[in-house]
This record gives sequence, structure tokens and C-alpha cells, in this order.
Amino acid sequence: MVETVQLDRVENARLDGEQAPELAIVVPSFNERDNIKSLYEKVTTALAGVPFEFIVVDDNSPDGTAELTKELSRQHSNIRCIRRFGRRGLSSACVEGMASTAAPYVAVIDADHQHDERILPEMLAAAKAGADIAIGSRFVEDGSVGKGLSSTRLKGSEFATRLASFIVGRDISDPMSGFFLMPRRKFEEVAPFLNRDGFKILLDILATSARHGAPLSVREVGYSFRERNAGESKMSSIIVVQFLGLWLSQLTNGRLPMSFLLFAMVGISGLLVHLAVLWLTNVVLAIGFVAAQIVATLSAMVWNFFLNNTLTYADRKLKGRKMVIGLIEFIAICSVGGIASVSVASNIYASEPQPLVAGVAGALMSAVFNYCVTRAYTWK
Ligand code: GDD
Ligand code: MN
Repeated sequence: MVETVQLDRVENARLDGEQAPELAIVVPSFNERDNIKSLYEKVTTALAGVPFEFIVVDDNSPDGTAELTKELSRQHSNIRCIRRFGRRGLSSACVEGMASTAAPYVAVIDADHQHDERILPEMLAAAKAGADIAIGSRFVEDGSVGKGLSSTRLKGSEFATRLASFIVGRDISDPMSGFFLMPRRKFEEVAPFLNRDGFKILLDILATSARHGAPLSVREVGYSFRERNAGESKMSSIIVVQFLGLWLSQLTNGRLPMSFLLFAMVGISGLLVHLAVLWLTNVVLAIGFVAAQIVATLSAMVWNFFLNNTLTYADRKLKGRKMVIGLIEFIAICSVGGIASVSVASNIYASEPQPLVAGVAGALMSAVFNYCVTRAYTWK
């Protein structure tokens, strides 16, 4: 054992005499100012003897997490901060962090101390012994959720785990974990195909690697999920819906992107809004049909815009002036889509008088058109 460590040290020696990191600890963060320094200290204790680098990937948190991390990196040469602007997203942050290192092993750990850093050496040993990925699991022997999850979240988590196992295609006790370690080489093999949307990076890695090349060999290491140290969880109902979108996308083998599926779900909800407003204006308020139809269409478009802005494109949400311009653009683009849909439907109907078929074809066509064009212009 001692010998291997010494050998590694020789291989890790840099020309400048420093030691090259053997392990990169990637810490996605959003408003985690009060957790970074203490996490770094805990990781340093846990990884005594292992040269590592500590990469905080921060989405320009308003609480100043990035400034603090940069302050710390002036004191410790193994701390780095990747600060992202105009982007939000846990999965994409993890991918950027892992992609930025030259260390032969990469790990992801939450900033809030919920993941037990003391199992990192065991995870590293598992990867060195040949595992393609070592997963910190709350649901194997020695693992538990302790006080880390409320009972509602625990139920939700169980259900999501079942959904996840279905797309991963095998039993992994904690595919929703955000705590794992793998050889960088293995990560880089799967990285170009990752979805990168949403909150569940591990699930993305497991499902994607099962499709591209060989499924990863997994070692699970139990740990007890702790309570969050400081700050607040970013888990929300939006993230739950995004998870469903991601799950559906994985079911189509990634052929339909999560954003398209969410866009389509939003579109369906917009149809309900349309019908409700039409009923309200035309039936209840007795406004003429054409005027009522215009009001209903506009209401549905405004509804769709705001829902897409917070749900489908939460990672690039438009705010302030950009949001107003985006709304106008969105209405203009969807109007074109609407007109195109009517003409497609009438053409189909002319040759094949089946109203349902023609209607669905028209709606699908406009959904694809609206999605592609608003993605290229509004939420680029
Ligand atoms: N850069 C970045 N951008 N980081 C983010 C974002 C984001 O948009 N959203 C969340 N994070 C960071 C948080 O700052 C934290 O370090 C970590 O991601 C997890 O976020 P939490 O808000 O603490 O999530 P959680 O505790 O509810 O769930 C976490 O733990 C579960 C168990 O492992 C997540 O990692 C889940 O995916 C995981 O299932
Ligand atoms: Mn947490």
C-alpha cells in the first residue's frame, strides 16, 4: 500500500516540484457561501495524503460564494472556482467541473455537507481497484438517510429511485445520489453524450453509459445522509417536473430532448388555459367568438411563455428587459406557428377528411416549429 502511494507520488510530481492532483473534488454550488470553507477543511482531513484539487462550480450566486471561493484559492493552491454567468443547473455545473480537471479521478460532492466526505478514500480505492464508478449510497448497508430527508421527500425519493432504475436497466440502490467518484477517462468517454439538463447528473451518467458502449461497473459505498449545514435546499416542484421530463427523454433514448418534452407539456397545459379563457369570455361574459378566441390565444401564449421561462428554460431564465423582449418574440413566433398549423391541418383535411388526424398533425407541426424557433431566438 505504502509503495503504491509512493509510486503515485513520483508519477504525480510536476516539473515545478508541486504535486499534480490525483483526485478532483467538484462542488456544484448555488448560495453556499457558509459551507465552502468548512467543506474544504473536512475534505482535506478526509483525504490526508491524497493530492487533490477542490473545484467549486458556482452559478454566480448572489450570496457571494464565488468571491469567497476565490479568496480561499488565494490561500490554498488546490482550490479553484469556476464562475458561470447567465447559466443555472446542477448537472451542467458538475459536467463543467469534471471536464476542467487533469486529475485522473473525479468526484462530485454537494456543498452543504449532506454527503459524508469521510467515505471518499474508500470510493477512491474502489475506483483504483477497477470500479468504473463508486457511488455514495444512502440505501445500502452502512447507508441511511438519517435526518437528511423529510418523510415526504423520502417517499418521493423512493418513487423516483424506482423510475430511475427502470431507465438505468438494473438495480442500483441510489441512482439519484449526487455523490460519486470515477476515473476521469470513464467520465470523458460518456461526457459528449450526456444530457446535462436538470438535477440528476449521476442518473444521466448511468443511463447514457448504458446506451453508449458498455454499462459502467458500479461499487456502492454506504454513508449516512446528513442534515444540510447552512443555507437552503434548491430542490423544488420545478425540479420534480424537470425530472419527469428527463425521465421521458431517457425513455426515448435521448432522441427527444428534455426541453422539447417539457415544452410540449407546457403546450398541453396552454391548451387547457385557452379553453378555459374561451369559455369564460365567450360563454360567461358573452364576448363575440372571434374576440374571445383572440383573448384566449393571447392568454395561452403568455401562460406558455412564463411556464417555459421558469420550467423548460430554468437554466437560462430571461429576466427584466430581456424577458419583455422574449415575451414579444415568443408571441410573434407562436403566431406564425399557429398560422402554419392551421394551413397544414386544412391541407391534410382537404385530402383526407379526418378532423382529428388533421388537427393533431397541425398541432405537432406547430409544436416542433415553435420549439425550434423559440429555442434558436428567444432562449438561445
Ligand atoms: N452550480 C449550481 N447550479 N449548483 C447548484 C444548483 C445550480 O443551479 N442547484 C443546486 N446546486 C448545488 C447546491 O448548492 C448544492 O451544493 C448541491 O447542488 C445540491 O443541492 P441541494 O439544494 O442541497 O439539493 P438536495 O440536498 O435537495 O439534493 C441533493 O442531494 C441528493 C442526494 O444525494 C442533490 O444532489 C440530489 O441530486 C441528490 O439526490
Ligand atoms: Mn442538499
